[in-house]
Amino acid sequence: MKVAIASDHGGYEYKQKLIPFIRDLGHDVFDLGTADETSVDYPDYAFSLGERVASGEFERGILICGTGIGMSISANKVKGIRCALCQETYSAVMSRGHNDANVLAVGGRTIGIEVAKEIVSVWLSTSFLGGRHQKRVDKINAYDNNR
Ligand code: RB5
Repeated sequence: MKVAIASDHGGYEYKQKLIPFIRDLGHDVFDLGTADETSVDYPDYAFSLGERVASGEFERGILICGTGIGMSISANKVKGIRCALCQETYSAVMSRGHNDANVLAVGGRTIGIEVAKEIVSVWLSTSFLGGRHQKRVDKINAYDNNR
């Protein structure tokens, strides 16, 4: 799968650790920045990654900031993005199965790196269940398309 990843300075360390981890899972990972721990503004990275996932250039996106909150708030402003902020694996699985989340946000200062790896792993490998969940996601998409 083509996966984009981006962070601000607060998520840079985890981004660097997650990139080889995701590659080892068998995915093509594209690093959209940031390039070091110099202070940057998370919305710039969330909007850029979100636009590129929404356009279909990437199938999924992963965003990391200090808490994951700023990235998730920003990414969810992009039309077509359903970004889930996850701190544990159950939510990561549900965000795919029930919500068809196409972007995952995690915090680089709120969870351990091993937990972050587990979240990323299950999030990338879980499919959307469709069925009764489809009409709910359809409602989100309809709202998105009519604003
Ligand atoms: C940066 O200091 C911090 O505000 C950012 O990484 C993130 O946690 C915002 O939600």
